[in-house]
Amino acid sequence: MQTQERTTFKTAFEQEVYEGLTAFPKYLPSKFFYDQKGDKLFQEIMALPEYYLTGCEYDIINANKEQFENLFSTEAGFDLIELGAGDGKKTKLLLEHFVKNKVNFSYKPVDISADVLEELEESVKSTWPSLDIETLQGTYIQVLDNISEYNQRKKIIMLLGSNIGNLTHEQAVDFLKSIQETMNVGDILFMGLDQKKSPARILSAYKDSKGVTEAFNKNLLTRINRELEADFDIESFTHWPTYNPETGTTKSFLVSQKQQKVHINQLNLTVKFEAWESIHTEISQKYDDSTVSWLAKEAGLQIAAQFSDQKGYFKDYILEK
Ligand code: AVI
Repeated sequence: MQTQERTTFKTAFEQEVYEGLTAFPKYLPSKFFYDQKGDKLFQEIMALPEYYLTGCEYDIINANKEQFENLFSTEAGFDLIELGAGDGKKTKLLLEHFVKNKVNFSYKPVDISADVLEELEESVKSTWPSLDIETLQGTYIQVLDNISEYNQRKKIIMLLGSNIGNLTHEQAVDFLKSIQETMNVGDILFMGLDQKKSPARILSAYKDSKGVTEAFNKNLLTRINRELEADFDIESFTHWPTYNPETGTTKSFLVSQKQQKVHINQLNLTVKFEAWESIHTEISQKYDDSTVSWLAKEAGLQIAAQFSDQKGYFKDYILEK
């Protein structure tokens, strides 16, 4: 519920926070989790025992390095473009293997965070001085234009960590379509997607015992307090992840434990919460092969190969035009 009308905003953050908190039901976009603190918390999440996704994908890449080398390599070499590279922990397994085998390639990590890219570039350059690396800073959408310019040789576009799971199916199809449009026949989209599995296992990944995911979710309110001069009482919100096995959708919420008002100074907005009213903050979609085939087809792509960890928790797909 809103108390003022507002039409001009200085930033996308201001606008989307305003839109989300004046909507019914309330929501906030998960892309705003990733400020400096959020980046750190996400690194911590990836190291948690409950957050199986990272370990499973690490194992898949580690077990199939040779195969990936064969699938990617051409005489003219290839450009390895990683969308949302982060600390590159999993990709470094491949980089190491490729450098050791004198594979002809260049590495082009893309990330929204300039800090993350700087750190990654430094560590790659110091470990493998001969490796050809060029970083690209921006959102996925912003860099797609640059990516389509890489067409002198084969492109491998990597999208690891089930990142696309933070999009609705509709958004995912649009995004995959725009990736597909940058691809030539023979290029590869290498995409990691978390699979449907025991609901208990999935929920525990989003409700870890150390409370890191709770802090990650609540950091969004801390960010609004700091950047938009708001007075959210963070502790009066409960972190509440849910998993629907029918749709494969994990949804995370922040639930107000009491009736309260929150004032957001920069937005000139007072937001009223009823007791137990929720803010939907994230979806983390889980997939199966038929859903992935459907997504791929809608986007003009097809599954050429797939690789799973031993438990079948996670899969990396090779998609082609
Ligand atoms: C980045 N993304 C794929 C993570 C996920 O699993 O949805 C973000 C995350 N949210 C809570 N824990 C991790």
